[in-house]
Amino acid sequence: MSRRLPVLLSADSEEAGAARPVRLIAGDAALDGRVGAWATANGFKGQKGRLLLCPDEEGQIAEALFGIGKSFDVMGLRALADRLPGGVWRLEGVPADQRDLAALAFCLGSYAFDRYTKPGTEPPARLVVPDAVESARVLDLARSCDLVREMVDTPAADMGPLQIETLAREIAEESGAEISVIEGEALLEANYPAVHAVGRAAVAARAPRMIEMHWNRSRTDLPLVALVGKGVVFDTGGLNLKAGAGMRNMKKDMGGAAHALGLARQVMRAGLAVRLVVLVPAVENAVSGDAFRPGDILNSRKGLTIEIGNTDAEGRLILADALARAAELEPDLTLDFATLTGAARVALGPDLPPLYTDDEALAADLLAASARVHDPIWRMPLWAPYADALDSDVADLRNDSAPWAQAGSVTAALFLKNFAPETGAWAHMDIFAWNPRGRPGWPQGGEVQALRAAFEMLRTRYPG
Ligand code: BES
Ligand code: MN
Ligand code: ZN
Repeated sequence: MSRRLPVLLSADSEEAGAARPVRLIAGDAALDGRVGAWATANGFKGQKGRLLLCPDEEGQIAEALFGIGKSFDVMGLRALADRLPGGVWRLEGVPADQRDLAALAFCLGSYAFDRYTKPGTEPPARLVVPDAVESARVLDLARSCDLVREMVDTPAADMGPLQIETLAREIAEESGAEISVIEGEALLEANYPAVHAVGRAAVAARAPRMIEMHWNRSRTDLPLVALVGKGVVFDTGGLNLKAGAGMRNMKKDMGGAAHALGLARQVMRAGLAVRLVVLVPAVENAVSGDAFRPGDILNSRKGLTIEIGNTDAEGRLILADALARAAELEPDLTLDFATLTGAARVALGPDLPPLYTDDEALAADLLAASARVHDPIWRMPLWAPYADALDSDVADLRNDSAPWAQAGSVTAALFLKNFAPETGAWAHMDIFAWNPRGRPGWPQGGEVQALRAAFEMLRTRYPG
């Protein structure tokens, strides 16, 4: 994985003296003097997201104005990092309680997926941050987020089950976690029948696997947090093959796994007071003579049988086994991330991931954390009456809900609920993990969603 240069500089670093100011300008602000005249001449009125570079008498760039419109949205600073010319800058006008978030936004806005292109020659913009900002922590969180985006952006050919395993091993090693992987036919012996069924059609080098990571395992005095992520490295839909448009971006179907691993990395790096187990089923939903079929009835780790109505509803099958494994460990808290349904996007669009949980305290903590760190999520109901849509005549459950229920993201969450741990609380996030439109600071491609909210919730509950 590529590693970008840190974009934050401390106030006492050598370069800090040369930093040029970026002034945040509200829509109603009056600017006077030379800069005011320059702004007027350029039609700059503090419009949200507008950047104006201001020259000195020699024609060099002396400072920049960045419009914030009617109200300051700290994440809007992602656009700044993307658009500022190279060199060293400092921000003027950030509210004191948002300086860390501003630095983070700047880091997140500096991400570019450059694994397959020649490195740019333009030096990146770098930001001098006030002493009060905990740069190392900010950079660490940004790195965890970038790791997620790199994993999602990397094409399926180079981000197969093995590459996910390799990254998981690197993350484990970095923080002294234990890791074990069960692969291929061994999944049957180890009782992961659904993971095996979904992944068995792939070529041998891309065999399905179950990745399990433990951190602080012997610290039974600490609460156990389970992180689970859907790792479908490419979702063709299986024999219920997706049409071209629907398949186009399915390299991102391991976004949940990337989020679980990125969040785990962050929890471990921050040394939160928890025991951690990370469960990532990594499979390719491929087409071959050995593919699972519509009408097949799968067994699952928990012993519930599942009638396959549609091989494209594969994420819930591998998560069923992973959640059942989590349940055996009796966690105090379980979080899962999954690019589970297209219906979630119909409900809330690409930028607002649905959150499902029946635990009121967890919902409140997650939503409060989400607001604090500007990482949006929206609670949706585990609407029990729709559970009937998952009834099968020939098995305990079906994997594609009956059409009458319509609410596909809700019924997918209800499916998972059958397997989720009943000790402690469980929350499921149906993420998109993708920016469908590119704009400065939010390049088209992989996106990290709900991870920072979840980390903030964990950090608040279990400070290290
Ligand atoms: N990975 C997809 C869901 C998805 C599609 C997420 C597009 C983000 C963007 C999932 O495996 C899937 O195919 N779900 C089906 C379920 C249906 C067959 C019951 C869906 O949402 O259409
Ligand atoms: Mn699918
Ligand atoms: Zn899928």
